[in-house]
Amino acid sequence: MQQHLQHPIFKVLANIATKTHTEAFVIGGFVRDLFLDRESKDIDIVVIGNGIEFAELVGEQLKSKVAIFKNFGTAMLKYGDLEIEFVGARKESYRTDSRKPIVENGSLEDDQLRRDFTINALAISLNAHNYGELIDPFNGIEDLNKKFIRTPLDPKITFSDDPLRMLRAIRFATQLNFAIDEVAINAIKTQKERINIVSKERITDELNKIILAKTPSIGFKYLFDTGLLQLIFPQMAGLYGVEIINGKAHKDNFYHTLEVLDNIAKTTDDLWLRWAAILHDIAKPATKRFEKNHGWTFHGHEDRGAKMVPQIFTQLKLPLNEKMKLVQKLVQLHLRPIVLAQEQVTDSAVRRLLFEAGEDIESLMLLCNADITTKNEYKVKKYRNNFELVKQKLKDVEERDQLRNWQPPITGIDIMQTFNLTAGKEVGILKNAIREAILEGEITNTYQEAFDYMLNKAKELGLNPISHQN
Ligand code: CTP
Repeated sequence: MQQHLQHPIFKVLANIATKTHTEAFVIGGFVRDLFLDRESKDIDIVVIGNGIEFAELVGEQLKSKVAIFKNFGTAMLKYGDLEIEFVGARKESYRTDSRKPIVENGSLEDDQLRRDFTINALAISLNAHNYGELIDPFNGIEDLNKKFIRTPLDPKITFSDDPLRMLRAIRFATQLNFAIDEVAINAIKTQKERINIVSKERITDELNKIILAKTPSIGFKYLFDTGLLQLIFPQMAGLYGVEIINGKAHKDNFYHTLEVLDNIAKTTDDLWLRWAAILHDIAKPATKRFEKNHGWTFHGHEDRGAKMVPQIFTQLKLPLNEKMKLVQKLVQLHLRPIVLAQEQVTDSAVRRLLFEAGEDIESLMLLCNADITTKNEYKVKKYRNNFELVKQKLKDVEERDQLRNWQPPITGIDIMQTFNLTAGKEVGILKNAIREAILEGEITNTYQEAFDYMLNKAKELGLNPISHQN
């Protein structure tokens, strides 16, 4: 193991341990990641004794400032790009109504036993007599090799101690593509309601980590099957299920959404595009109808879905900023490119799409591509070919008409000055008319053509430009 502790910091820690006759160990995620060959910048040190005092000595030697969290009995310092956290070994017991533990001092093994998973309970000694030795009382290495998430204690206790761990189990299983012990799954199923004592921010933090994994559907299937999703994100769980009327079934929108999410995860690491994939059909349950002649329809689910976005972002404590606006826009427009691809791809339809999507046109195209989940090879081919056509057209129209960051060539102020108007209905009518004419291709996106068009249109409204009035 010694070869793993390459960084000079470990020798510094080991020397202080020797000098102060304190036992110290590297523990947790850093050790797990060593064995997974993943680089980690967060180092957790557990000392048998007082973690804060130990950290202060380290801070003195490294001349770094130590941040002390008295309530938690922990201390943290930064060293280069490393973040090192110190804690005294604990034997913890928790209250049932809170994640805050009542802390008692304990041995290394007590401390390891109270950690979340065997793969996170690995420790490496920093002590002179066994420096570099791996201490693995719960066979964490075996579980790493078996790709298995298991708790050191009975999972009922581990999860009851800290219910966030139910989500952490699913998050690690998703990130690492590990299986979760059946006993732990059952414990989640019986204790899922305790997730309610965890803050929304922490829940969403884990959710986002699942979403950012290579195959996010792994996590969402676990969340749904354990019943956690129904509690933390009921709108998504509501997508689940197939209804059959007159022998006609609609697709299961939950599994469809997961497919879209996995698809988009192959093309982008952007969290918000992945959120757009999750939410693109979120209003399907609310808009579902069975119509005699058409079968299942979900008319208006894109508008309704876009309206649901702020409410869901608020509920999940996601940021209510331009990222939310992006997601909302993508949900709103998600059908447009595919509808275009199914119909004749006219210049004006492409122009309109470009005008509405603006800067986010590429993101929208990524979402729509991911949304093609039909298993019918013929259809896939047809869609993709048409899609290529839409893309090409988008490029052509954009080059020609420069609509991406469209600013009207004639502004409201121009209109008011030309006709000596104050803000009001006529200004809006003229502005819209100019925009429509450009989008329909009646005039080009230039000042002169737009100005002439405005004069004609104004005449119809009985308006005359100022210079002609005297
Ligand atoms: N831990 C725990 N229960 C928790 C959170 C953390 O037992 N609810 C323990 C685990 O031993 C974990 C260590 O504290 O390895 C550090 O936790 P944290 O930094 O949150 O996670 P990591 O395991 O390092 O993983 P990641 O950085 O991916 O979150």
